[in-house]
Amino acid sequence: MCGIVGYIGLRKAYPILIEGLKRLEYRGYDSAGIALSSENAFEVYKEAGKVSDLEKIIPDKEHLQTIGIAHTRWATHGEPTSQNAHPHYSSSKDIVVVHNGIIENFMPLKRRLIKEGYTFQSDTDTEVIVNLIEKESKKGRVSFEEAVNKALQQLHGAYALAVLSKKEPEKLIVARKGSPLAIGLGKEYSEFFIASDAIPIVEYTQDLIYLNDNEVAVLERNKKVVVKDIYGKSKSYKVKHIELDNNMVTKGEYEHFMLKEIFEQPDTLSNTIFSHLDEKENIIYFEGLGKLKKQLSEAKRILIIACGTSWHSGLIGEYLIEELARVPVEVEYASEFRYRNPIVRKDDIVFAISQSGETADTLAAMRYSKEQGATTFAICNVYGSSMAREADFVAYTYAGVEIGVASTKAFTAQIAVLSLLAIAMGQENKVLDMKKATFLMKELRKIPKLVAKTLEKDAEIERLAKKFLDVTSFLYLGRGINFPVALEGALKLKEISYIHAEGYPAAEMKHGPIAMIDEKLPTLIVGTNEMYYEKIVSNAQEVKARKGTVISVVNEGDKQLSDISDYVMTIPKVTDILQPIVVAVPLHLFSYYVAVMKGCNVDQPRNLAKSVTVE
Ligand code: AGP
Repeated sequence: MCGIVGYIGLRKAYPILIEGLKRLEYRGYDSAGIALSSENAFEVYKEAGKVSDLEKIIPDKEHLQTIGIAHTRWATHGEPTSQNAHPHYSSSKDIVVVHNGIIENFMPLKRRLIKEGYTFQSDTDTEVIVNLIEKESKKGRVSFEEAVNKALQQLHGAYALAVLSKKEPEKLIVARKGSPLAIGLGKEYSEFFIASDAIPIVEYTQDLIYLNDNEVAVLERNKKVVVKDIYGKSKSYKVKHIELDNNMVTKGEYEHFMLKEIFEQPDTLSNTIFSHLDEKENIIYFEGLGKLKKQLSEAKRILIIACGTSWHSGLIGEYLIEELARVPVEVEYASEFRYRNPIVRKDDIVFAISQSGETADTLAAMRYSKEQGATTFAICNVYGSSMAREADFVAYTYAGVEIGVASTKAFTAQIAVLSLLAIAMGQENKVLDMKKATFLMKELRKIPKLVAKTLEKDAEIERLAKKFLDVTSFLYLGRGINFPVALEGALKLKEISYIHAEGYPAAEMKHGPIAMIDEKLPTLIVGTNEMYYEKIVSNAQEVKARKGTVISVVNEGDKQLSDISDYVMTIPKVTDILQPIVVAVPLHLFSYYVAVMKGCNVDQPRNLAKSVTVE
């Protein structure tokens, strides 16, 4: 999904916008553009490729303008070309806009505008917005803000946008519906920073306003922010102070954000676990859990909705909650759930799991569940994100900013939160006795150190990865709670190295995938859970019997499976039900090294974006 950034103030806008774009590039990176505004003139540059390609085409001169908007794109309508890059002009070039989202009714609107003589330079849906604003501004004495409102009232779909007009050059207007948008407040309203999230803004201010759906804000220097809805009705807003600083959004000594985030896990898991579990007392704490506990334990059903890696956490949550709390759980792909007219009951508890808290399908599925009267519980990593603000309850994973498109530390933090919730629910409905609960809390407290120990195998895993740079396909197998981890390992390899990979429950192999096995197809087996150990060993033998190469993730001191396997990655022993957090580490590292050694851009894999804010 695209990233938008804007500035109006006293400083030169150009460096703020370019640096902001670089910070947002994880959201989309196939083309970029900038518009600088002064004295009724716009200076617009846009180019296909990365922000660095955009910089190359911008004249190396001092850009004195103190107002501007910019955009980094993830193409939805129209190929990633400089023509389709944002900002987009209106026909008269009096108005420019940058937009993140999808206008679903852009075709009929475009056809009508063309009939009325408006011209279009690109294949994008966005150009319709700016021409609509122009059309409305021509209807008699209409202010810039009114024209924007009128245009927005005709749009179906999602948008976060920033727009400038030559007619009212001292105003920057922003609006949001569906796609996230934050406004950073400068001292005494002397300047304003706008962006798709807090990351490009934190360098300048930590006081932010998060716009809600159908809200419009008019930003003018030295004037208080005015927020209204698209019909002009005033809206109140909260200023949130966010604890985020520059170190959190830079790579530090690491070559890639993904590697940094993998190595941050001992700290991020400590932050997450000890934000919800007392260091010494066996007390599990979640904001509002007191009120929710009874409902949770009496729930007839827990529905978990999510996408991608968060969906894998959801599957692990199913094993955890059903095992420890004996409450039935159903895990749903949010994109399917929201459209299949699912049965959602008032006494259902719906967990929406999302790192970004902005994934369009998960947000919509959560809203649908809420409309059906269910209680919604968001598990998010981004403070102030839409899901966190709209859910009835929110539990944060304190994994810090995750910039690498491939989710790693957020995944393990999600599992830590789900483990704590399952233990709390199991205690609440008296199916988990104090002895077992205490044991699990003790094990959880060890996890950060066990992950740190596993990370020491970094160099070994790098050497192993080197052997698999030429494979074209990979099979990942796991059993029980490690099956979803196998899915996650396969997803990571796919999304950053572009090697086709499939995760499967190991026992399912005999029902099809085993046909693919030969010398060329390596199989990675997660063989750490004691409960299924013998069965896992047989699965490895079945692969070996077909001349397949076996890489196994095993516990320290493992013997049988290691003897059968061609290669092993070892982790310290952890009780079965908490293994996914530790097993994920070698799988993430393995995929990272394969991708890096194949020369892939692991932080910005092709065709992907960090938070999918459109359908
Ligand atoms: C994971 O590496 C991917 N980036 C992607 O599958 C991601 O998990 C998915 O888009 C869900 O994102 P969310 O957790 O922010 O909702």
